[in-house]
Amino acid sequence: MDEDRRIAAVSEVPTDGTLLFTIRDGFDREEAFLVRLGGESEASDAVHAWKNYCQHWTDVRLDKGSGAAVRDGEVLCQRHAATFEKGSGQCTHGPCEGAYLDAIDVTVEDGAVYLGEDGYEFDGLGPSGDHDLSTGSRIDF
Ligand code: FES
Repeated sequence: MDEDRRIAAVSEVPTDGTLLFTIRDGFDREEAFLVRLGGESEASDAVHAWKNYCQHWTDVRLDKGSGAAVRDGEVLCQRHAATFEKGSGQCTHGPCEGAYLDAIDVTVEDGAVYLGEDGYEFDGLGPSGDHDLSTGSRIDF
């Protein structure tokens, strides 16, 4: 595997939160996050990656830098409480019910997670630093 595309060790990916990272397409940066399914089964180390925005309002980040909230195995949007299955990315409850988070292709090899998505480079762990979508000017309710 290309070490430049190594995101993190599987053990670094929380089962009760998310791990934020940044990818780059040329000069454009985007945020995404890793989730690990967890549990006792062999599939517990399965890791998925999703782009870091809600499907209700796409300018709302799910992980604001310290991990998104995960409740009962689902990622929670803290704006209007939409919940997304970690494994499928499907919104199971909330204003965007039935929508899916945008997937980023990752692979696991020798205990590490690698970026598999064509057209992107791994930029680093943590926020992109280019913008702060969490402080948009929308009027909340
Ligand atoms: S912005 Fe996420 S549920 Fe409304």
